[in-house]
Amino acid sequence: MTDNTAVLFVCLGNICRSPLAEAAFRAALGEVKHLPFQQGIHVDSAGTGNWHIGKAPDPRAQAVARRNGVNIATYRARQVTPRDFYDFSHIIALDQHNLADLASLQPADSRAHLALLLDYVDGRQGEAVADPYYGDEAGFDITWRDVTAGAQGLLQALRS
Ligand code: 4NP
Repeated sequence: MTDNTAVLFVCLGNICRSPLAEAAFRAALGEVKHLPFQQGIHVDSAGTGNWHIGKAPDPRAQAVARRNGVNIATYRARQVTPRDFYDFSHIIALDQHNLADLASLQPADSRAHLALLLDYVDGRQGEAVADPYYGDEAGFDITWRDVTAGAQGLLQALRS
């Protein structure tokens, strides 16, 4: 991890999975709060779609974050922009569709490294974090578990 490390989590709507990934990564960073590197680390999330721009996270996502000690009520959805590929060193997709969309949006001369979140979890490389949007409340607990595993693995990779 360097002073220039900046991480953007990307899903489709930016109201369920990527805000939870952002929250889990912020929580993981908090666990190593005594280390100086995380002072300046830039963390954000965005969506490839534009339907929910300006909206707060889905109430079910806010609830699962709250159950796990993180308040995401002030997060607001935004769409990925070409500029993100210059501003962020790591752009982390929640599923393969998001990753393909990001790859097609990436300007040729930008430096951002693209990956799937679960690539950072042993035995789960290439897997998607399932979209809980059309499911029930229990799906959000699975999302939280997956994004937490991914966030912890990503942090470990960035530190090594
Ligand atoms: P997300 O979930 O990509 O995890 O934020 C979704 C949110 C909204 C929609 C799809 C997925 N939607 O179609 O509106």
